[in-house]
Amino acid sequence: MKETKRVKRDSDIRVDARIKVSGKARFIEDVEFANMLHGATIRSPIPHGRIASIVNLEKIRNMPGVRAVVTANDIPGENIVPFVKQDYPCLAPDEVKFHGQAVALVAAETVEEARSAARSAEFEYEEYPAVFDAVQAMKPDAVHVGGEDNVHSYFRIRKGDVDKGFREADVIVEGVFNNKHQVHCYLENQGVVAVPESGGGISVYGSMQCPFYVQNALVKVTGIRYSGIKVVQTVTGGGFGGKEDVPSILASHAALLALRTQRPVRIIYDREEDFISMSKRHPARTRVKYGATKEGKITACEAEYIVNGGAFCTLSPIVAWRGVVHISGPYDIPNVKADSYAMATNTVPCGAFRGFGQTQANFANECLMDELAEKLDMDPVELRKRNILKTGSRTSTGQVIGESCGLEETLIKAAEKINFKQHFGRDKGIRKKGMGISTTFYGVGLGAEGEYFAKAGAQVYVKEDGSVIVAIGNVEMGQGSNTVFNRICADTLGCPYESVEVLQPDTTRVPDSGPTVASRSTMVGGRAVLDAARQVCDTFRKVAADKLGVKPFDIEVDAVDSRYRCSRGEMSYFEVVNEAYRRREKVAAQGWYRVEGCTFDQETGQGNPYSVYTYSANACEVEVDTETGQVTVTKFAAAHDIGKAIHMISAEGQIQGGTVQAIGYALHENLVLENGRILNPSLTGYTVPTSLDACDVIPIIVEHPHGEGPFGAKGLGEPPMIGSAAAILNAIYDATGIRFRHTPCLPEDIVKELSKLSI
Ligand code: MTE
Ligand code: MOS
Repeated sequence: MKETKRVKRDSDIRVDARIKVSGKARFIEDVEFANMLHGATIRSPIPHGRIASIVNLEKIRNMPGVRAVVTANDIPGENIVPFVKQDYPCLAPDEVKFHGQAVALVAAETVEEARSAARSAEFEYEEYPAVFDAVQAMKPDAVHVGGEDNVHSYFRIRKGDVDKGFREADVIVEGVFNNKHQVHCYLENQGVVAVPESGGGISVYGSMQCPFYVQNALVKVTGIRYSGIKVVQTVTGGGFGGKEDVPSILASHAALLALRTQRPVRIIYDREEDFISMSKRHPARTRVKYGATKEGKITACEAEYIVNGGAFCTLSPIVAWRGVVHISGPYDIPNVKADSYAMATNTVPCGAFRGFGQTQANFANECLMDELAEKLDMDPVELRKRNILKTGSRTSTGQVIGESCGLEETLIKAAEKINFKQHFGRDKGIRKKGMGISTTFYGVGLGAEGEYFAKAGAQVYVKEDGSVIVAIGNVEMGQGSNTVFNRICADTLGCPYESVEVLQPDTTRVPDSGPTVASRSTMVGGRAVLDAARQVCDTFRKVAADKLGVKPFDIEVDAVDSRYRCSRGEMSYFEVVNEAYRRREKVAAQGWYRVEGCTFDQETGQGNPYSVYTYSANACEVEVDTETGQVTVTKFAAAHDIGKAIHMISAEGQIQGGTVQAIGYALHENLVLENGRILNPSLTGYTVPTSLDACDVIPIIVEHPHGEGPFGAKGLGEPPMIGSAAAILNAIYDATGIRFRHTPCLPEDIVKELSKLSI
């Protein structure tokens, strides 16, 4: 069969661009129902203890506008929001484990009435001792918060013999690296509306990444069966991992109030409440040790990775697992020993954030690579070239990289783009320039530990006028997936991009496609769309072939001109659709894709944890003002081997956005906690980069296609966030001669260290 001819029309704008820039997109705040109430949450005033009672509960019930107050005693199903483990109560039964944990809910006629009722709660409580730091939580005498000995989860990797590897090494470097929390700061805060349905079921609309996770939670908390629950994702103003698990909490809260009052209930958090109670990137303490020969061949890597999971387990096991799988870096190292712990503490539960445990791990190993290069007196690009993964290499889990490894090309291209060269001591003045580099690899999708969800389903339905509906369970949250699905469908069917519409996911109408996380939508969701579109296209080929008097495999589908061609003649896509309808052909199909063959041995950490990897290199230049400690990123080249760019503008946008988010992580974003309480829960107290801080990030797309992805595409969403912080900190070293081993690296830290030097 002849392959479909496809051409990227790069100037095409994204399918969601117009509604978003014109203000027509309906975010959750725009979703209203008649008779709708507003929900608010009563939260724990202490980080650890027993709440004996809300003493003024009766008074709250009678406050103006209040229609219901719901506590843990009023839950019809189980008091659990299910994540990886079943430890997170929907409402605190009596014991609370973090400041801000939900204790009770209020529904009132207006937002103000609901919030003021919630705020007026007075508690009788007994406070317990608490622990806030992951390393402290490991101590034998630490207060018990959760898991066994406060360990939410533990993973390890054992490959070869690290002692032997370090004996073979000529140089050894070791370092301990620390990262603080990072807050997602999606523009749209968390929000949902729950609507009780007349048949006893419930519908929930909301800003979210994972409608099927929300569905699971609603089944658990309400006791209603799956078919009675409908979850619809509304246009989502950013997620970045922060709308993976926690929308299940809001949804169950809103559902409880809606079932109780039999009225629609909307809960939208304000920024402060969102900061206090929603997930974050895990703070981490990472120790890495590399040994290498004089020639720069790494002989061993040892690592210990400790992340602060917070009070409940949520997604911490998968974060700790992804971290440990990637912690030795994108290198072929014969001997690796790594241990990874997600610890329970009395802080807000941490969860998914772009990079998912790799961001912190990569920061440590890539900064240490720079130290290794220095100790070897070797250019950091050259050191990496001697160790990076290529096809045929083995990862730390013993996986052989079979195909599609463009890491070397990304490294060369990123370095070239900024004329990478470290010139420590070059600038004598106040403003000093420096350059830094980093490399990463990224296992696309959920991998062996998330296999249960590693599937996607899609429907493609061609209407009589040739317009096409795509229904899929993966969501658009700004990353561009609807444009990707549009392109895959249109390029397969051979129709104009304008003809294809991707619907808002609704769990009653689309198959469970797993979560929209782990940069999996293009590769996994894309394959489901491809499967469905191919089935319809096969029908169209038969129709066209029959009409033109040839065999179906003689037909060439030309997606550029929307034509079905053969030597005998041609038909336009629209003529083919017309003919298919005349013949009453099946013009709709269900596509399905399941990722298979991922393995991970719990004892040794060996196996093929992911089936496909994306590879990246970042090279940057910074300027450090040694008087103020201000760091400006002046050049940033980010090269990513993504297999194939399905939509170039979106791909480049992902690289630019992810890199700027990493600049914030490296240099600005400082969440301050005191006794488990967040002291700066606002966008003024916690500063994300603005357009003024965003440098001109140069995206470089490298395409080494992978057989598993649609048209060879892999995943890109998270990698731009992963390696960038290390490149920036390496550049700060090159500029100043000071190794900072933490994020955020604030101006005051820089000034403090520089002042020590000049004494
Ligand atoms: N880009 C935008 N604009 N908004 C987002 O919320 N989320 C990131 C990334 N890029 C995000 C984003 C995260 S955490 C993931 S996992 C991927 O997009 C998910 O999208 P994909 O599966 O389409 O790559
Ligand atoms: Mo992304 S952190 O996997 O939602």
